[in-house]
Amino acid sequence: MKTTILIRDERPADIPAVRSVYKQAFGRLQEAKLAERLLMSCNTVESLVAEDKGRIVGHIMFSPVTIDSWCGTVEGMGLAPVAVLPEYQKQGVGSRLVNQGLSILRAKSCPFVVVLGHPDYYPRFGFEPASWHGMKSQWDDVPDDAFFVIIMDRKAMEGVSGTVKYRDEFSGGV
Ligand SMILES: CC(C)(COP(=O)(O)OP(=O)(O)OC[C@H]1O[C@@H](n2cnc3c(N)ncnc32)[C@H](O)[C@@H]1OP(=O)(O)O)[C@@H](O)C(=O)NCCC(=O)NCCS
Repeated sequence: MKTTILIRDERPADIPAVRSVYKQAFGRLQEAKLAERLLMSCNTVESLVAEDKGRIVGHIMFSPVTIDSWCGTVEGMGLAPVAVLPEYQKQGVGSRLVNQGLSILRAKSCPFVVVLGHPDYYPRFGFEPASWHGMKSQWDDVPDDAFFVIIMDRKAMEGVSGTVKYRDEFSGGV
């Protein structure tokens, strides 16, 4: 792993470099634009960058999600998007971004965190299939084995199940 890498909060001046990370990691700008829309419209996002000697090499964002359950609406966070520059991938940068984000959310008493992603990647951070907890995503085409949750506050989440809703920015609604 590159030991010079620092994980820190994203600053407004990082936006062009973050955009470039997504362009190179995904070959498109859809995820960068989503991250920018969330950053502009929501003041409770957690947005972190990985920096190597002044160069932005990775980015992760967590934004609020809600679950309407019989005992009321509970707010958690959704991990998306995340990307690491191709030449920095498979060196632990993505893992550091995920783990640091989860630590911050745990410290803020976030009750749960969801992610839509690959079954080979996310369980290593403690994510479990959301279906084990009676949760599903708002999108019908998301397979059960691609939607994960970490329950951080078991007491707050007692009896909570149902459909997890992301912000409108995810549906192109804002
Ligand atoms: C996914 C991503 C953020 C991971 O970052 P990273 O710095 O390469 O991750 P790490 O070095 O911490 O972990 C590497 C491990 O993740 C695995 N991995 C990486 N991307 C994966 C994917 N899309 N699906 C499954 N496994 C993946 C690697 O095979 C490797 O596994 P190993 O540890 O068993 O060898 C990065 O690969 C990336 O930017 N990919 C393109 C964008 C993307 O797919 N983002 C996620 C969806 S929003």
